[in-house]
Amino acid sequence: MEIKKVCVLGAGLMGNGITQVCAQAGYQVAMRDIEQRFIDGGMASIKRNLGRAVEKGRMTQDEMDTVLGRITPTVDLSKAANGADVVVEVIVEVMEIKKKVYAELGKIVPAHCLFFTNTSGLSITELAAVTDRPEKFIGTHFFNPVPVMKLLEIIKGHETTDETLKIATEWGKTLGKEVIVVNEAPAFAVNRVLCPMINEAFFVLGEGVASAKDIDTGMVLGCNHPIGPLALADLVGLDTLLHVIEGLHEEFGDKYLPAPYLKKLVRAGRLGKKSGKGVYDYA
Ligand code: CAA
Ligand code: NAD
Repeated sequence: MEIKKVCVLGAGLMGNGITQVCAQAGYQVAMRDIEQRFIDGGMASIKRNLGRAVEKGRMTQDEMDTVLGRITPTVDLSKAANGADVVVEVIVEVMEIKKKVYAELGKIVPAHCLFFTNTSGLSITELAAVTDRPEKFIGTHFFNPVPVMKLLEIIKGHETTDETLKIATEWGKTLGKEVIVVNEAPAFAVNRVLCPMINEAFFVLGEGVASAKDIDTGMVLGCNHPIGPLALADLVGLDTLLHVIEGLHEEFGDKYLPAPYLKKLVRAGRLGKKSGKGVYDYA
């Protein structure tokens, strides 16, 4: 199957990054969000990234304009999904909201259209089960920031066919990503390891063992991480991180108890870089 049109649902942190790499790889991309301000934010981020590439001589202005010309930003779901060969769903990490969107999609997209979800850890099988095409449904888990991070973690659901896996894997490679295929499990492989480590950093912070800066400095200088776990939490989004930890807690029990301090920051609206404040302030 040839993929020409990709529909990306969600223009947030991950949605705009996925839109950008798809457009750079030559696909026509419709990027849909529920409000114009989210679309505007997503397009501003894409333009900033491409503009930086032009400044650094990695891309010409003409090439940037061509890439932007492949993107159709819209709030209209029918317009975005109509004629799509693939829908990449990149909306908030809430099972019921995602299910609602999938239930609508089947009525709009062509019969051959595949569904790729960028969920950080929700059950692929459960999401697929609300669609009219569970065999064409698969997890394609990108990493943040999408244009920079090389990994694509692919996860089959119970009904996903090998053909869908093959197409998703080939597509990931056309985006310049290295693909790993893992079995379905809560938070898959990478976030199962990463997110509890970040959650633990919030316990350490909340218990007053060390300051945020010292925890991060410790993990950067002591463990050679590129940034500390609390700065990484701010990059990921504290709400998204909490959803992942809550999912692990629900599936596996108290071993994955969400840190109270993480919950408190989310309740305070400190969602990380995207909201201007998280563990750190981004004036
Ligand atoms: N979008 C696009 N490009 C970006 C970017 C962004 N948001 N942030 C940084 N970059 C680019 C910069 O332009 C720069 O590119 P050039 O060198 O080509 O100019 C390059 O990345 C390095 O950036 P900086 O020098 O500004 O900063 P840095 O050296 O600290 O690198 C980083 C930034 C790549 C984000 C690095 O800090 C890093 O690797 N952090 C860890 C990221 C990580 O672990 N991501 C996984 C999160 S978990 C996840 O995604 C899964 C989930 O489900 C939650
Ligand atoms: P975000 O909060 O930055 O963006 C989510 C976007 O989804 C928002 O703009 C919101 O308006 C939009 N949205 C909500 N309902 C929608 C709908 N019905 N249709 C279209 N758009 C809708 O979140 P994000 O960080 O981009 O995360 C999106 C998905 O990607 C989540 O499933 C998350 O777990 C996953 N993910 C996130 C990261 C990360 O580091 N942030 C990494 C990998 C995967």
